[in-house]
Amino acid sequence: MSLYAVVLAAGQGKRMKSKLYKVLHPVCGKPMVGHVVDTLNEIKVDRTFVVVGHGAEAVQQYLGEGLEYALQAVQQGTGHAVLQTKELLAGLAGTTIVICGDTPLVKAETLQTMLEQHHAEQAAATILTVDMPNPAGYGRIIRDEAGHVLKIVEQKDCTPAEALISEINSGTYVFDNAKLFAALAEVKNDNAQGEYYLTDVLHIMKSAGENVQAYLSDDVKESIGVNDRVLLAEAERYMRERINLSHMVNGVTIIDPEHTYIEKDVKIGADTVLLPGIMLRGETVIGEDCVIGPETEITNSKVGNGVEIQKSVLLEAEVGDETHVGPFAYLRPGAKLGKGVKIGDFVEVKNATIGDNSKVSHLSYVGDATIGSDVNFGCGAITVNYDGFNKHKTEVGDGSFIGSNVNLIAPVRIGNRSFVVAGSTITHNVNDNDLAIGRVRQENKEGYAEKMRNKLIARKNKS
Ligand code: UD1
Ligand code: CA
Repeated sequence: MSLYAVVLAAGQGKRMKSKLYKVLHPVCGKPMVGHVVDTLNEIKVDRTFVVVGHGAEAVQQYLGEGLEYALQAVQQGTGHAVLQTKELLAGLAGTTIVICGDTPLVKAETLQTMLEQHHAEQAAATILTVDMPNPAGYGRIIRDEAGHVLKIVEQKDCTPAEALISEINSGTYVFDNAKLFAALAEVKNDNAQGEYYLTDVLHIMKSAGENVQAYLSDDVKESIGVNDRVLLAEAERYMRERINLSHMVNGVTIIDPEHTYIEKDVKIGADTVLLPGIMLRGETVIGEDCVIGPETEITNSKVGNGVEIQKSVLLEAEVGDETHVGPFAYLRPGAKLGKGVKIGDFVEVKNATIGDNSKVSHLSYVGDATIGSDVNFGCGAITVNYDGFNKHKTEVGDGSFIGSNVNLIAPVRIGNRSFVVAGSTITHNVNDNDLAIGRVRQENKEGYAEKMRNKLIARKNKS
C-alpha cells in the first residue's frame, strides 16, 4: 500500500516575532522543516507533499526537488492547508501521514510504530498524543468513558474542564487517505479562530462510526511544537541531547555533553574525544581517535584520524591524519593540511595546501599558497598575497626552510630544499637548493649607545 505524507509549512509563525519564516528557523543547525523531511525520508514515504504559503519561495528553495508542493495562498487553518493537496493527493488510495513543519523532534521510530498500530487496528485515523505536564497552547484529546478518542479541542475552544486535560495532540497523524479527504470536505470554521481545523476531521470520522485511534507516546519532548523562541530553545536542547547521545552510543567520548554542540549531519568516528565547549557544524566529518577541543568550532570541514585540534576555528577546511592544530589557529576555506602537519598558535591558513609533515608553528599567515612536504615555516613568517587589487600565489617546494619573520611577497616560488634566511623579504623566485637572504646588512656603531644616551639626557635637562 502506498504511503504519502503532507507537511504543513504555510504558516507565518507570528509568535516567533521574526523576519524568518517559522519552519526555516534552525534547530541544531537545520531548519525545522528539514528535520521533518529527513524523518519522512527515513521511513521511506512514497510521495511527500509540502504545503507552503508564507515564505513559499524560501521554503521551496531550501527543501529543493524530490518533494511536491501545494500552495496555500491564504492561511485559513491546518484543515484548509491539507485541502490544498486535494488535486494531487485526494484521488489516491493509501495511507497518509500529516505532520507539522514546526515539530522537528518527531522520530522515525514513532512514525513507524504509529503506522503499524494504524494498520493493525484498521483505523481511519491514528493521532500521536502525549501527556504534557504543561499542555497550554496545544489541542486537548477528549476521550469517552471507555477511553476511546472522541475529538480534539483546541486551547482557544476549551471549556475550563477540558483545559485541565494533559493529553495533547502532537499535530502528527496517520490517515486512511480517502477517509481523510472525505472528512475534510465537512470541516467548518465555526470556532474561536475562524479557521478550518484539521483536528475537526477526527470528530467527523468518529461521528461517522470510523475507528479513530491515539498512539500515546511516552517521549514528552518529541511532540514539542515550536511556536515561539522559548520553545525553539527547548527543542534545540532536546535535539542536542539526542544527537550527542547517538554519538556516544557510536563510541565517541563526550566529556561534557551539555556544552557540546553537534549539528544533525555531522559524522564522527569511534574513539574520538570531544572536550567541552565545541561546536561541530554543517557537513563536518571527523575521523577516529581524534581529540577535539576544548573551545573549538568546526564547520563544513573534513578531519582525518588521530587529529588533535585545540581551541581553534575551522571553516571549510581539510585536515589530514595525525595532524595537530592549535591552540588558537584559524583554518579558513580552502585550507588543506596533509598528514602529520603541525599548525601552531595564532596561525591563519586560507586557500592553501600544506604538505605532509610540514610545520607552521607560530604566528603565521599562509594564504593562496602551495606549501610542499617537510617544510618549516618559521615564527612570524607570512605570505604577502594581496596587493590591494589582486591575490597572488606563493609556492614553497618540499623540504625548504623559511626562517622566522620572512615575508614571501607573491607571486613568488621557493624551490625544493631551499633556505630563506630569517627576516628576509623575498620578492624573487628562489631555485632548488639555493639560499636566499633579503635584508639590510647590520652595522654596529661602537659605543654609540652611550653617546646617544648622554645627548638625550642633556637635551631633557635643558628643557
Ligand atoms: C496545531 C493543532 C493542535 C496541536 C498543535 C501541535 C490544529 C487546529 N491545531 O496547533 O491541536 O496541539 O498543532 O503542535 O491543527 N499551518 C499551515 N496553514 C495554516 C495554518 C497552519 O500550513 O493555515 C501550518 C503551520 O505552518 C504549522 C502547522 O501548520 O507548521 C501547525 O500550525 P500552528 O498554527 O502552529 O498550529 P497550533 O496552534 O500549534
Ligand atoms: Ca504549532
